[in-house]
Amino acid sequence: MAGQQGQQREQVAVVTGASSGIGAATARRLAAEGFRVVLVARRAERIEEVAKEIGAAATAQVLDVTDRTAVAAFAASLDRVDVLVNNAGGAFGAESVADGDPEDWRRMYEVNVLGVLHMTQALLPALRAAGGDGADGAGTVLVLSSTAAFTPYEGGGGYVAAKAGAHAIAGTLRLELVGEPVRVIEIAPGMVRTDEFALTRFGGDAAKAASVYAGVDEPLTAEDVADTIAWTVTRPPHVNVDLLVVRPRAQAAQHRIARKP
Ligand SMILES: NC(=O)c1ccc[n+]([C@@H]2O[C@H](COP(=O)([O-])OP(=O)(O)OC[C@H]3O[C@@H](n4cnc5c(N)ncnc54)[C@H](OP(=O)(O)O)[C@@H]3O)[C@@H](O)[C@H]2O)c1
Repeated sequence: MAGQQGQQREQVAVVTGASSGIGAATARRLAAEGFRVVLVARRAERIEEVAKEIGAAATAQVLDVTDRTAVAAFAASLDRVDVLVNNAGGAFGAESVADGDPEDWRRMYEVNVLGVLHMTQALLPALRAAGGDGADGAGTVLVLSSTAAFTPYEGGGGYVAAKAGAHAIAGTLRLELVGEPVRVIEIAPGMVRTDEFALTRFGGDAAKAASVYAGVDEPLTAEDVADTIAWTVTRPPHVNVDLLVVRPRAQAAQHRIARKP
């Protein structure tokens, strides 16, 4: 039963960035947990493929989370929402602050910060309604930030700034919603090897992307993070996992990574 909320009704989870990586794995996992899942991303073919694979519990919705008008229309089309997983995001470029392209910084802010803002604002009424009086339920807003939100690293300035923004949204929102039947969860993963994240960061340069994970014994997988997400959103509704940092064992800190030669 989805959500362990002592109810028989089917719960609905909206997962952004569900066309690849952590989002796709999360949609699969939440469907397996009994949620009806709504998969959101820009690439129609990709989300339709993932939704088809999941089966009847999944629907695909093409949506750019940075498009506030489109997000509002999407929210109006939903009959209920219990869980919002704000996963869409990414890094663009790895230049120093001195050399960074402001266009990359703007895009990172738009998807990682404003995307979370648009989706959360638009779905909050439905999440509040899903929580009812809070006696036996809670809407859930989940924000995928990153360990980058807490620890700067060379070449990471724009991404560090954007994920710090996502962290700020989660923390502020939790304070503002206290007493209401909506919980706010933040998941901050360290190194996760997904097919596209590093490729996107390096503009499709496969060698540079591969070097991120070179010699690292078992980076986290998308499924590891999906497992973490599923655990947090299926806790009883009075339990709020505020912030969960999850890293591979081989990464003790942002700069402390065990690599085999
Ligand atoms: N991989 C890591 O090491 C790592 C570590 C910590 C945190 N994270 C965070 O975890 C999240 C998922 O990362 P990932 O590794 O799974 O990366 P990924 O495979 O590149 O996935 C990013 C997803 O976001 C979607 N997306 C991007 N811009 C969008 C937009 N404007 N509107 C809607 N969807 C959009 C992409 O789909 P479309 O292109 O089809 O829109 C894609 O499905 C990101 O927020 C990332 O910053 C990743």
